[in-house]
Amino acid sequence: MDRKDLLGLYDLAPEEIGEILDLGLTFKAALKRGEKEHSILKGKSAVILFYENSTRTHTSFELAAKFLGASVVNISVATSSVQKGETLVDTGKTLDAMKNDFIVIRHPMGGAPKLLAETVKAHVVNGGDGMHEHPTQALLDMLTLKEHFGRIEGLKIAILGDVRHSRVAKSNLYGLTKLGAEVRLFAPKTLMPDGLEREGAIVCSSREEAVEGADAVMGLRIQLERQKAGNFPSLVEYAKYYGVDENILHYAKKGAIVLHPGPVNRGVELTSEVIDGETSRIEDQVLSGLAVRMAALSLLNGEGKV
Ligand code: CP
Repeated sequence: MDRKDLLGLYDLAPEEIGEILDLGLTFKAALKRGEKEHSILKGKSAVILFYENSTRTHTSFELAAKFLGASVVNISVATSSVQKGETLVDTGKTLDAMKNDFIVIRHPMGGAPKLLAETVKAHVVNGGDGMHEHPTQALLDMLTLKEHFGRIEGLKIAILGDVRHSRVAKSNLYGLTKLGAEVRLFAPKTLMPDGLEREGAIVCSSREEAVEGADAVMGLRIQLERQKAGNFPSLVEYAKYYGVDENILHYAKKGAIVLHPGPVNRGVELTSEVIDGETSRIEDQVLSGLAVRMAALSLLNGEGKV
C-alpha cells in the first residue's frame, strides 16, 4: 500500500483492502499463538488523539502500535490545550514539531481526519469521523468474514439499523462492495439516507427481505438520543422491527453469523440470546480489530511482512 494516510474505504482500491486483510489475517494468527512482540515500528511514535469516547478502537490502536514496537502517547482532549481553544490544525502542527510518526484520530466532525492529514507530515489514521467513515471498523468486519468464510466475494451481508448516522455502515458498504459482496440495508425511513443505491447498496423494504439468505447479519448501534429526535417511536418498537433476534435469523442462510461493531445496547439492536449465542462473532471482531490495526499501521509504514 503506497499511501500516507488511511482516511476511508471510499478511496481505497480493492487491492489495497485485500493487502490489509491478508496481513491482518497473518497478525491475527500470530496473536492467537500468543505472539505479540514485533519490531516493525521500533523507533517510531504514535499519538492517539480521540475527541469522542471509545473503548474498542482506542484500546486496540494503542495495543497495535505497542505490539509493533512504537512509543505511544494518548492525548486526553479533556485535559489538553484543545480546552484552551487550540484548533485541530494547530494541535497537528504541534505533534509534527515533535517528529511524531502516526496520529490516530477520532473526531465528531466528518472530514476532520482529512483536514489533519493535509496539514501534518505524520501518517493519519481515521478512527471514526462523525457520520462519515470508520475504515478500520469495516476492515475488521471484513477480516472476520474473510477468516470465517474464506472469502468476501459473493457473500450476502444484511446491515440493519440506523444507517443514516452510521459511519460503520458506510465504510462497510464501500469496502464490501469493492470486494464483490452484496450489501443489503434496512432501516427506519427516518434513518436511511438517500442515494446509497448509487454506492452499490440494495435498500430493502423489510427486515425479512434484507436477511433472506444472508451469510451475515450486522446490527448497528442506535444512539439513544435519536429517539428524542423523533426518528423512531420507542426502543421496544425499534427492537421489534429493526433489531436482530432469533426469529429473524431463521431467514438467514444456514451457518450465518451475527456481527455488531459495539458497544451494543442489549435488547435493542440485538437480543441477549443473539449476543451470547453461537452465531455471534462479536468477541472475534474485537480480536480482528487489533490484528487489522496492526496491519494498517505496518502497511502505512511501508512494511508488508510480519
Ligand atoms: N466500534 C467502535 O468504534 O467502538 P468504540 O466506540 O468502543 O471504539
